[in-house]
Amino acid sequence: MRIDILTLFCDMCESVLSESIIGRARQSGKVEINCIDIRDYTKDKHRRVDDKPYGGGMGMIMQAQPIYDCFNALCDKLGERPHLIYMTPQGKTLTQQRVKELAKLDNIAILCGHYEGIDERVIEELQPEEISIGDYVLTGGELPALILADSISRMLDGVLSNSECFEEESHFSSLLEYPQYTHPAIWNGREVPDVLLSGHHENVDKWRREQALIRTKERRPDMLEKAELSKKDEDFLKLLDENRL
Ligand code: ADE
Repeated sequence: MRIDILTLFCDMCESVLSESIIGRARQSGKVEINCIDIRDYTKDKHRRVDDKPYGGGMGMIMQAQPIYDCFNALCDKLGERPHLIYMTPQGKTLTQQRVKELAKLDNIAILCGHYEGIDERVIEELQPEEISIGDYVLTGGELPALILADSISRMLDGVLSNSECFEEESHFSSLLEYPQYTHPAIWNGREVPDVLLSGHHENVDKWRREQALIRTKERRPDMLEKAELSKKDEDFLKLLDENRL
């Protein structure tokens, strides 16, 4: 999988993408992520990429030409048109389901807006998929693009150390995660639940599943409706409802 991030702030993206799991995955070639500076494609002699909005108003708008030429240069280089995504609070909210689908593609380009937005005509021309990372507004699309690139990369083969890492995790099985503990067994007077020290794997699995159900019911009851639940899960939730636990 190859991801190209079209941005005015390559250093900001590189600094995040060079660290930790994604940094390692890039180094070992499990994922290729490149940052492309939109400013390199401006035809303005002062290297400007933005201007004042027609009709007046605050802030600056990114111009169409540098973005259009930047994307077309990428298409020429790749010999194909990558799936283009524009990060914007006006897009569809990102879900783990969409992340899984995007992780199946070979080439993705992510366009980051900045300032007050992008000239609408380049959006009309390029017809990107518009994705939001939530109902709040950031100063630019870089952090959202990094979130998207991270969430996709961790789904790729070999990026996480073993596939259980994400199969067990929240949103994959549509439940929130159970609580986790590590050494020491007592910290600040707080003990690790006995069952986790018992070495009895079946009981541990049962306890974890039940904790995941309890958490999801308390914190995200909306997720329970979509979750794949076994008869055992249903029975446990019924007991919870009846306050018999
Ligand atoms: N750019 C600014 N805010 C954003 C958001 N919430 N999601 C995606 N892109 C954005």
